[in-house]
Parts: sequence; structure tokens; C-alpha cells
Amino acid sequence: MRVQIGPEFFAKTKSEYSDWTFALPRELMQNSIDAGASFVEVRVSAENGMTVVTCHDTGCGMTRNIIEEKFLTLGGSYKLDNAVGGFGAAKSLIAFSNEQYDIYTNDLHVNGRGSEYTITEHERTPGAKFVIKINGDYVARIVRGFKKFIAMSRWSGELILNEETITERTQNGFHRRSMGWCDVYTNNSHQSQMLIRINGMLMFTKTIHVDKCVVIELVGSSIDNLTTSRDGLKHEFQSQLDEFVYELSVDKQSALRERCGYVQDFDGPMITPIQNESGDVWVEKDETPITAKEISEKVVKDITRSYNFKFKIDNEIGVRLLDCWTPDDMSSYCQKLVKAWVHCLIVLHQLHNKSSSFSVGFIFSSTTLATCNSDAKEFLINPADPTVLNEGIVKRSKKWGFAGDKRFALIVAAAHEFTHNLGCQYHDEYFTTKYDDVMEKVMSNIKLFYAAFR
Ligand SMILES: Nc1ncnc2c1ncn2[C@@H]1O[C@H](COP(=O)(O)OP(=O)(O)OP(=O)(O)O)[C@@H](O)[C@H]1O
Ligand SMILES: [Mg+2]
Repeated sequence: MRVQIGPEFFAKTKSEYSDWTFALPRELMQNSIDAGASFVEVRVSAENGMTVVTCHDTGCGMTRNIIEEKFLTLGGSYKLDNAVGGFGAAKSLIAFSNEQYDIYTNDLHVNGRGSEYTITEHERTPGAKFVIKINGDYVARIVRGFKKFIAMSRWSGELILNEETITERTQNGFHRRSMGWCDVYTNNSHQSQMLIRINGMLMFTKTIHVDKCVVIELVGSSIDNLTTSRDGLKHEFQSQLDEFVYELSVDKQSALRERCGYVQDFDGPMITPIQNESGDVWVEKDETPITAKEISEKVVKDITRSYNFKFKIDNEIGVRLLDCWTPDDMSSYCQKLVKAWVHCLIVLHQLHNKSSSFSVGFIFSSTTLATCNSDAKEFLINPADPTVLNEGIVKRSKKWGFAGDKRFALIVAAAHEFTHNLGCQYHDEYFTTKYDDVMEKVMSNIKLFYAAFR
């Protein structure tokens, strides 16, 4: 016994695609490109209430065996190396769901209606030629679909569409970052469009709030990354893509930044500020009262002498770091910076009655002054950022202090990251409101912060 497939099954195929008038050209073109075609001629016209799509390529064509076992078999697929397809599902859209379809290839002619077909001998046709008849007038939309696919893809072959050569293509552009399952590029072609492609072939697009065209080149095959309709990504990638689109709208620079560096963890306890009854005195775990200033001094001493506090180095840009930037042999500038950073954070915790543990460290980045990982409760400051980098270190003068503007920049950076740590992950309105509250407290207690630099 075999599973039966009724004609209603194929009739519903088109509704499985978010826009079948784009998906049909995409699947036809992609099969031709997968077959190694360097030239495709397409004609789309209206005839007797039907739309007739003829697509003739110069690819490898099909043998009788491939036609029967692969093309006319649901799930059947046979591809050359580096091909994009592989689901064996597109035949439903490009053939079985239509009023009629004809395929001419080698010396064969397939004539089909739904799941019924005949194969006869025919005069030789190079490559493969598909003639598809669809009920209704979809000429304009299908022509638009072919144009969109080719203009937003990176294919070196030639497409003639209704006697017009379509020359527009979209190259990847500037490589921004890799996310493992995809590479991200930007270019200036289709503004506010994200093109999700595989092997340079457009799968689907997304509107984004960025003044650039962002190209997502998927790594691996269709089956690894895409849903069967190729209108979306598999769940784990789709959620990462959604997150990336959100990051882009909030902070384009940081969303597009390459994460190519490495992370070094210096293990040790977290900093746990506990407030005692009098409000402004801080105690450590052993209940000995000590001030914020004393804590920060102790932290720095412990970090640099015996790694006795957790410290992280996120070397995002992968530069070679001299020991003076690390706890191994930290320069006096770095020590002062860590001390001031810890101090500011302790005071912020104090002003907000927070006694949650946190740790600190350095981030080396070309775009970030400071960052906070709320889950890990980590606050990292970029010691090489000109906003805080002190001339003292450059001039090598023995006696130097942070210049006034640099002090304030560090306090503001701490307040900003502390706001993130209050549960405001993104730079949205919620963040702005919280940040205003934090800054109000900072400004009315500014002396407590300036003590960090003494
Ligand atoms: N233009 C073509 N030239 C040569 N072979 C083709 C062409 N179109 C389809 N085929 C053959 O028919 C097979 C089935 O095509 P179909 O598009 O249904 O599935 P697929 O391309 O393998 O996978 P997907 O569902 O991901 O598109 C292909 O694997 C290929 O061997
Ligand atoms: Mg295909």
C-alpha cells in the first residue's frame, strides 16, 4: 500500500509561501543556477485568462531517470556540488500546483497536470525548459519576482526577461562580522533592506531600520538553515536573526561589530557590597566596615597581587596585549582606572540600595567605551578609549591624575552601564527614563564619585 496524495494537496501549495509570486521565480532560477546555467531566458505572458511562464536555461538538463526519480518525486533531489537546493519540495510550487506544466530537456518532453504526467520523445532541447501555466493574471507580480530575485542576488550569469537583459545584481559589500551560521555584509544598494541569501542567491528579505543594505550570507546548505518554503530560518537561527535586527535598530555600530577576539578570565570572588544600618558605610563579608574607597583600593590590590577578585579581559578586537594592560603587571594608569571604576560602581550600588555581587574588567574594542553583561553582572571598561585614556600614561609623568572631563566621562559610563544592569537591556524609552533617575542621583551625590580619583 502507498500513501495517497489527492489533487487538493497540491492546490494548497502556493499558500505555504509568504509570497508565491516571488518564490516561484526564485525556485525556477535557483534550479537553473544549481544546474550550472550561465544563461537563462524567461518569458512571462498572459494567455486566455492564464499566466504562462517559460524558463529556459543552459544548465546540465535532466535525464529520464532524474525526471522520474528526482523531479517528479516528492522529496526527490539530485544536485551538483555547491548547489543551494536540496529539499526536493519546490516541484510542488513550480509544477504540480499549476494548471499545466511542460518540461523539455535533452530529447524528452514531460507534460503534466497536477500529479498526472506523460513523458514522450521530443526533438533535442539543450539545458532545461519549463513552461508553466497558472490560472489567473499574475504577469506583473511574477515579472517583479524575477527582477527582485536577480537584482538582489550575486550571480554572474545572464538573465533575459521578456526580451530585456536584467543587469542589476547586488554584491556582498563590506564584510562586517561572522555569526558562525552566517556572514554579515553591508553595502549601499537597497537601503533599509536585509537580504538573506545562500551562495549569493536571495531567499527572502526583511525591512530594517538602518540606512544601509545588510546582506546575511548563510553558511551551509538550505536544509541546515532554512524552512522548507525558504521564506524563513530554522527556529534557532531565526531567533538570533530577530535579535540581530533588534540590535541593529538600537545600536547599528555595535550590532555590526566583529567579535573576533578572545576572552581571558582571571578567577576569584565577586565584589559584594553590603550596606550596614548607617547607610553610608560598606562592609565586606567578614563584617568589617570599610568605605567604598577602601573597597576599591583593596580590589585593585588583590586583582594585581594575587588575582583575588574576579577580573575579565574581553579582547574583542584581538590586539596583542602587553602585560601592563593585564593583572599580570598592571600599569599605574590601569590600576587607577580600575580603582575609580570599582569605586563608581560601588557608590552606584550604594545609592540604589543594591547589594548584588558584580565583577569588573577591561574591554578592548574600537567602538565601545564600556559594557555590561547583566547576566554575568560584569562591568567592563575600555582602558584604551580616548574618552578615559589619560595623557599621564602617554607622557609617562610620575605624578598625574585623571583630567576633570575624563573623570566625569568615567562616572557617566559607570552610570550608563549600571542602568543596563537595572534590567534595561536596550537603548529604548524605558532605558532613558531609568538613566535619567540614575543620573539625578549621581549629580546630587557627585562628591561621593569624585572621591574615586583621590
Ligand atoms: N533547471 C533544472 N536543470 C536541471 N535539473 C533540474 C532543474 N530543475 C530541477 N532539476 C532537478 O530536479 C530535482 C528536483 O528539483 P526541486 O526544485 O523540486 O528540488 P531541489 O531543487 O532538489 O530542492 P529544493 O526543494 O530545495 O528546491 C533537482 O534536484 C534537480 O536534480
Ligand atoms: Mg529546487
